[in-house]
Amino acid sequence: MGDFVLNVNGSDVRVNASREETLLSVLRNRLNLTGTKYGCGEGQCGACTVLLEGKATRSCLVPIGSAANSKILTVEGLERDGILSPVQQAFLAQGAFQCGYCTSGMVVRATSLLRENHNPSEEQIVEALEGNICRCGTYPRIVEAVKLAARLQSKGAGR
Ligand code: FES
Ligand code: FES
Repeated sequence: MGDFVLNVNGSDVRVNASREETLLSVLRNRLNLTGTKYGCGEGQCGACTVLLEGKATRSCLVPIGSAANSKILTVEGLERDGILSPVQQAFLAQGAFQCGYCTSGMVVRATSLLRENHNPSEEQIVEALEGNICRCGTYPRIVEAVKLAARLQSKGAGR
């Protein structure tokens, strides 16, 4: 066990955990940030995606020891002062979910795509999200949501 400091959604937090405990487990079980989901636990589904130092990362594969002193953004951190981010707004507007289990991972992955590419083509959106599994098959609406998010972002909605 050891103390680890993380910057989560803009705030420093200290957690006491084993070095091997996953970032996903720390977020969900110690910091109560349950928006990030446990799907496969093996890096295969993307449900656990967060931004680690700005990069979309599967938190089920990251031991907390290697995430210490890093900046982490979870789906909860995308909303600011009660205003949802453009990607969150777009997923709601397009109804881009059914059970919603994949949604936070999709939203975080789409956020990282739109930070790198403000106007992605449909092919680029599909390629960016292909590692995120939606068992409900809502991919067409998810792709439409990302296109809408790009338009909202260009108009300065949310952040
Ligand atoms: S829970 Fe991490 S990739 Fe599936
Ligand atoms: S909405 Fe159910 S897994 Fe994607």
